[in-house]
Amino acid sequence: MLSGKNILLGITGGIAAYKTTFLTRLLIKAGASVQIVLTESASSFVSPLTLSTLSKNPVLMDFTNEEDGSLSWNNHVELGLWADLMVVAPATANTLSKMAHGTCDNLLLATYLSAKCPVYFAPAMDLDMYKHPSTKATLDTLVSFGYKLIPAESGELASGLHGEGRMAEPETICTFISEDLKRGRPLYGKKVLITAGPTHEPIDPVRFLGNRSSGTMGFELAKTAANLGADVVLITGPTALSLSDSNIDLVRVETAQEMYEACLAHFPSAIVVIAAAAVADYRPKQIHKEKMKKKEGDLLLELERNPDILLSMGQKKKHQFLVGFALETENELENAKGKLKRKNLDAIVLNSLNETGAGFGPGTNKVSFIDKNLDIKTFDLKTKPEVAGDIWEEIIGRIHV
Ligand code: C5P
Repeated sequence: MLSGKNILLGITGGIAAYKTTFLTRLLIKAGASVQIVLTESASSFVSPLTLSTLSKNPVLMDFTNEEDGSLSWNNHVELGLWADLMVVAPATANTLSKMAHGTCDNLLLATYLSAKCPVYFAPAMDLDMYKHPSTKATLDTLVSFGYKLIPAESGELASGLHGEGRMAEPETICTFISEDLKRGRPLYGKKVLITAGPTHEPIDPVRFLGNRSSGTMGFELAKTAANLGADVVLITGPTALSLSDSNIDLVRVETAQEMYEACLAHFPSAIVVIAAAAVADYRPKQIHKEKMKKKEGDLLLELERNPDILLSMGQKKKHQFLVGFALETENELENAKGKLKRKNLDAIVLNSLNETGAGFGPGTNKVSFIDKNLDIKTFDLKTKPEVAGDIWEEIIGRIHV
């Protein structure tokens, strides 16, 4: 959720300011660009040099900067426009009160007043200050303005007293913001199940039957769904791909049978299911315990049918919006429509191996999206992330989220 976001981090003068070094690291690790604005008193609690090193940006404190004898202006209006979101952490009683009343006597407050983006604030103060009616009124005022309170926690305070007023931990602040950003997304709170990659059907301990699927399309569909706010379960056969996203539960399987079992376990609670895996239709009837020895003459491998995962999900379907993929080399449209009906799907994505740039490889794909009313939308050749975006747009337009 935070990846690619421009984040203004406003730090005010409380002892919890030392924790903003960790907060800065977490935001940077999550892929955000961070610009820090400090109040003067905050600089007594945490070093601007540490913060500028961690944020990879000069830390701003004053309206003007003096460098080599010339004066430059730290433009609070531009900072406010640059930001996708602002976090004030720790937010002292003094700064919170000024924020509520529009006082603007430092760069942090001027930037806050200029910012049009969502503003989060994490109060930090001693328990009696936190309980004071004026602080409560300040917090209520800021919340009524639409700013987002990251509640203080209870625990040991710098004064040695115990109680409410401790700044939320950096991890809690990051999770709070990510969850809040997710809440507005079209797939928020929806479980999405996606299959990806090939399956490997063992012949003996070293050999298997497989196919050329890279898994890229399924992985891109999963990443897009996570960006749209979904809780994703991605069940993948063996691929070289990996991802780390707290909103994607990556389940690695080897065979069609394992994929089938994993799918059935997640299917009942899923809202949207996309079967993008290239599942082997057949598997060797016998798996040899030892490596098979070369012998004179030909070898015949007897194969048996694998379960059709998509077909059985179609048979079990209740509320789910079920999407299949069809990779065809002949009679593409007719075959895809046939599959849509036979497997009781809500939509099918057709990609043709006859099209240059479409299919199994990592780069690009060219697809048509066909829904159960047989409305067809054909897209241009695009990168797989773009194709994933198109497919999700079609699905979201058809589910009542
Ligand atoms: O019928 P066909 O195998 O061509 O259909 C392809 C679609 O069915 C894909 O969405 C694929 O993921 C799914 N499938 C499956 N289980 C199988 C075979 C295909 O889920 N055993």
